[in-house]
Amino acid sequence: GASISVQELANRLKKPAAELIKKLIGLGIMATINQEIDAEVAEIICADYGVEVQVKIEDPEKEILELLEQEDSPEDLVARPCVVTVMGHVDHGKTSLLDAIRQTNVTASEAGGITQHIGAYQVEHNGQKITFLDTPGHEAFTAMRARGAKVTDIAILVVAADDGVMPQTVEAINHAKAANVPIIVAINKMDKPGANPDRVKQELTEHGLLPEEWGGDTICVNVSAKTKQGISDLLEMILLVAEMLELKANPKRLAKGTVIEAKLDKGRGPVATVLVQNGTLQIGDAIVAGTAFGRVRAMTDDKGRQVKKAPPSMPVEVLGLSEVPEAGDVFYAFDDEKKAKQLVQIRLDRKREEELKANSKVSLEDLFARI
Ligand code: GTP
Ligand code: MG
Repeated sequence: GASISVQELANRLKKPAAELIKKLIGLGIMATINQEIDAEVAEIICADYGVEVQVKIEDPEKEILELLEQEDSPEDLVARPCVVTVMGHVDHGKTSLLDAIRQTNVTASEAGGITQHIGAYQVEHNGQKITFLDTPGHEAFTAMRARGAKVTDIAILVVAADDGVMPQTVEAINHAKAANVPIIVAINKMDKPGANPDRVKQELTEHGLLPEEWGGDTICVNVSAKTKQGISDLLEMILLVAEMLELKANPKRLAKGTVIEAKLDKGRGPVATVLVQNGTLQIGDAIVAGTAFGRVRAMTDDKGRQVKKAPPSMPVEVLGLSEVPEAGDVFYAFDDEKKAKQLVQIRLDRKREEELKANSKVSLEDLFARI
């Protein structure tokens, strides 16, 4: 916590230090002139002199972040693509749907057909960009939300027409609701003989999602990732909802965003897929994500092309970080490398402090275990 030396407090109160020491002794604190006393104790002393203090809790990390978080002036804001997270029960076709949208085949290359990580892609429909995040189940989404990262503008809830609402569908609904994100339902696998979209809709109403055609406000689109039925309808609905959200960002400022996934690549070192949420990320920018620091050495888009700039809502793979950040870490670009390093140092110190605390607890437990 915050502290102040007896001498410093005496100076500020314009009182003799000896007097303060006497008061401290009165409080049962045997203090010397150079001793640091807690903010709470300092407050008591000040109150004794009739001085009210506003204890400013010093948080150097917060100070740096506040500088970075300055608000954009309205004239700098321009429209940005929406960021869409695809959620739903296992095997209901999230990745297949994205494959159909992108006209690729990621599903086929996945181990056991199960998505291991989040993919981040950008597609264009009617000349407008849409950014997609594919989640494995919903764990990553939960983890990101738990860490305070809000990355999604719209949630696509994929429900298999032949399987209906399942436990993870309900969880996805709850997550999207908690995050206050609009939901568009994609009723998938319409090509299957057992497809029953009305049953799906009936089940959705039991979870607070009333379809538009039944008088509610939940958009439902029947699709098939296999035959591509309804895919362009789905994209149109996404753009419609996005338009109502009036999403904006300032491409002129330094970039800020979230780490979507990260790994250590044998040849290339730490590789992070990041989503730029505001500003423009550029080659050579100093960036910090968690305790990782670096200069952007190279950037690749979702199609493997080298890019020099990443504007708002663009996912890019970034090379140049000192270590592998965590999914959900917020990243910032800096024009002042010193400040960037300072932020990392503050975080490293804090981490070490916490580790020391944790370790001392463990050793105490060990001690008890041995008695
Ligand atoms: P997880 O990532 O494991 O949660 O699964 P997912 O939701 O991404 O499902 P995925 O896209 O891997 O699809 C699961 C299975 O359903 C695969 O065998 C797909 O080929 C199949 N599938 C997906 N969409 C359709 C569809 O529209 N029609 C049919 N017939 N099969 C589909
Ligand atoms: Mg998948």
